[in-house]
Amino acid sequence: MKKVLTVLGARPQFIKASVVSHAIASTSGLAEVMLHTGQHYDANMSEVFFDELGMSKPDYFLDIHGGNHGAMTGRMLEAVEQVLLQEQPDVVLVYGDTNSTLAGALAAAKLDIPVAHVEAGLRSFNMKMPEEINRILTDRISRWLFTPTHTASANLLREGHAQSSITEVGDVMYDVALHHGSRVRADTGLMAALGLTEKGYVLATIHRQENTDHPQRLAVIVEALRVTARTLPVVWPLHPRTRAKLQKAGLLEALASQVTLIDPLGYLDMVQLEKFAALIATDSGGVQKEAFFYRVPCITLRNETEWVELVQAGWNRLAPPEDVGVVKSAIDAALDTLGQDVQPYGAGDAAQRVAASILLTS
Ligand code: UD1
Ligand code: UDP
Repeated sequence: MKKVLTVLGARPQFIKASVVSHAIASTSGLAEVMLHTGQHYDANMSEVFFDELGMSKPDYFLDIHGGNHGAMTGRMLEAVEQVLLQEQPDVVLVYGDTNSTLAGALAAAKLDIPVAHVEAGLRSFNMKMPEEINRILTDRISRWLFTPTHTASANLLREGHAQSSITEVGDVMYDVALHHGSRVRADTGLMAALGLTEKGYVLATIHRQENTDHPQRLAVIVEALRVTARTLPVVWPLHPRTRAKLQKAGLLEALASQVTLIDPLGYLDMVQLEKFAALIATDSGGVQKEAFFYRVPCITLRNETEWVELVQAGWNRLAPPEDVGVVKSAIDAALDTLGQDVQPYGAGDAAQRVAASILLTS
């Protein structure tokens, strides 16, 4: 029996793990131990996903969150190492590009435990992003590089990674969308409670440090959404980081008078608002792809994206939040548009392929 110890801690990782943990559980020869670092800890940022996506509670919860990047990652590194020494897993599995990802991978690599990285090879080519640092370092020390796209595989080959360590499995978020997202309907009462009609509103999400921690960029986003809301309702589930920054910048009240601000949603409610939106404006990686899964036009409020296929295919447009007029024009231009019929994220069996590959490869 191969013991896989999964290290996770942030919202999108719980969602990704819902399908991979299920695949591990249904693969004879694999057993999983799950460690939650505590990076995200509010009930609506963590517990809700375990409940509604049918996941077992984590075996370990470290309760480590907040602080500067170094402090958070360092505390995780030390605590994850203790668990690894105790559990002696055969493989450590990590997802994406958060501080929990890097801490898990680094603790494992230093103990000579092979690391499996799901969502390997993504690059923004912007080393100012904490996520870019986390991804590059995690890829460097991983035994299995499970890539979601051709672009990600090509990035790794260009950096000198061996072809034999790369397995292009597709995107596990696509698996989740097929498995859980497909059953989401419009008639649960959520949209009515928010005064929203099908294809009659814009859904916004913002949480990236490059936007929340730059007052000018945050102000441009707020103003562009306020202007948009004059003609089309805007609903914005606020990430706790963003709520705090808006409050600090004194922007929250003016925003709340025109835009519907709500708490973070569970996955099924979020997918509902995505599916029935006229347009999605976001800086989230996961939400950009979900917009495409549900064929909703998307504006990405960043200077670059890792998911370049969707920009190339016309489903997504980059709108750097540097000028209100530019963002508003991008929103207007994207409304009522469709992109090309592309299939860049695999066949919906990424999770099964991750489990099979871990079982069969030494
Ligand atoms: C983190 C990831 C980011 C990912 C995002 C997913 C890093 C460097 N960043 O960003 O890549 O896209 O998660 O959502 O790992 N907070 C709460 N309650 C919570 C969680 C967070 O109040 O349940 C607040 C805390 O004040 C915390 C702040 O949000 O300090 C930021 O949280 P953190 O996990 O550091 O970064 P995210 O912006 O969530
Ligand atoms: N999400 C959610 N509730 C919300 C906002 C996002 O369930 O209020 C989901 C979203 O549908 C997607 C994932 O969280 O599946 C994306 O996570 P996030 O935007 O936090 O991080 P990123 O993908 O940018 O790393």
